[in-house]
Amino acid sequence: MDHFDLRSGRLHAEDVALEAIAEAVGTPVYVYSQATIERHARVFREAVSGAGRGEPWISFAVKANPNRAVLSVLAGQGFGADVVSAGELIRAIAAGIPADKIIFSGVGKTADEMRLALAHGIGQFNLESEPEAEMLSAVASELEVEARVAYRVNPDVDAGTHAKISTGKSENKFGIPIDTALAAYARAGAMPGLKLQGVAVHIGSQLTALEPLEAAFTKIGALVRELRAAGHDITIADLGGGLGVPYDPALPVPPSPADYGAMVRRVTAGWDVRVAFEPGRLIVANAGVLLSRVIRVKDGVTHPWVIADAAMNDLLRPSLYDAWHEIRAVTPSGHRFTANVVGPVCETGDTFAIAREMDAVAANDLIAFMTAGAYGATMASTYNSRALTPEVLVSGDRWAVVRARQPLEALIAADSMPDWLGG
Ligand code: LLP
Repeated sequence: MDHFDLRSGRLHAEDVALEAIAEAVGTPVYVYSQATIERHARVFREAVSGAGRGEPWISFAVKANPNRAVLSVLAGQGFGADVVSAGELIRAIAAGIPADKIIFSGVGKTADEMRLALAHGIGQFNLESEPEAEMLSAVASELEVEARVAYRVNPDVDAGTHAKISTGKSENKFGIPIDTALAAYARAGAMPGLKLQGVAVHIGSQLTALEPLEAAFTKIGALVRELRAAGHDITIADLGGGLGVPYDPALPVPPSPADYGAMVRRVTAGWDVRVAFEPGRLIVANAGVLLSRVIRVKDGVTHPWVIADAAMNDLLRPSLYDAWHEIRAVTPSGHRFTANVVGPVCETGDTFAIAREMDAVAANDLIAFMTAGAYGATMASTYNSRALTPEVLVSGDRWAVVRARQPLEALIAADSMPDWLGG
């Protein structure tokens, strides 16, 4: 459920008309609803409560939406953070997320990133290879601290999602193979500076069935038992993120957080560990829209081309994953039509929708790309020398710019000229 509704025929974010934001900030612009973020955080927390030992450790996957204001809303909900770079780590800390609630994931952590994370005293490193364990051991020893670690295990389970966001098959780059995990833990257990506390798994994103998750978790449960039997003091099982959200109302609704939580409680019963989660999309996707203005409508051979002022550089998901985002008129006339919706970028991939049955729109109308709060603004680029998309946070009848539109002058001034070209 979200807080984007029609009121008196105009689409609102909570109590704020999107028209007012477009007027003041210009378009394209991302608009987030704080009440929706808080609601999703609460729903997820309630859904998984009672799983494992003590309170679950919920770390928001910062990559889904790293805006500092968004992170601060989640800090207020008691969330930790799952980070994958120094930049995400610094953002999470700056937003007030306590370091001991931060998990550092990713296959390519550098020694500098490890140093930074250790200096802050983060809660857990999810290691993805033995060379990485050796590097962290060396860095922790040099700093004379102990790094709390888990190995991310690749359970070789097909998550049944888009190939580009599937991570738990043996041919994917992620994690250590589950069948060699026991030996890897034995070797890491002997490395100085590492405290092996957990096991982690994440099999992919936008998962629309619980079965692959259950299959993966079941394998993790067996591994926890084997590791205990081998003498490792495993206290954390990090079950990753990945639960999908509804994008296309014509498709079956993905499993609810409550169904997911019930499955987790059932599968993890008896593991006797604290359970950690790294949800991203589920928390923020429905909490954001990309607001855009139609530049013009051009005749097409099959359908009219709606040319929006948002493009693939602002919302990459449709180009990259053939992702489907609902497109709504901000002041719908009640008429519908079938159109192709594209951006101004000069490539055919800059297409949001083909033959889409949608609210009829004309030049200058505002449209909203729905469910754009996750992996939206954060994946934006300046391709075609288009400025990075600004972001706005709404709370009740208040709203604020939480990332200003980048002036084109600043974009261009970021380049510098070598002296032989007159610089
Ligand atoms: N944990 C790890 C280690 C991850 O790699 C990810 C996402 C998550 C948690 C959060 O997964 P979520 O709950 O959001 O599904 N850009 C793509 C999604 C990439 C997901 C990458 N990893 C998209 O727009 O669909």
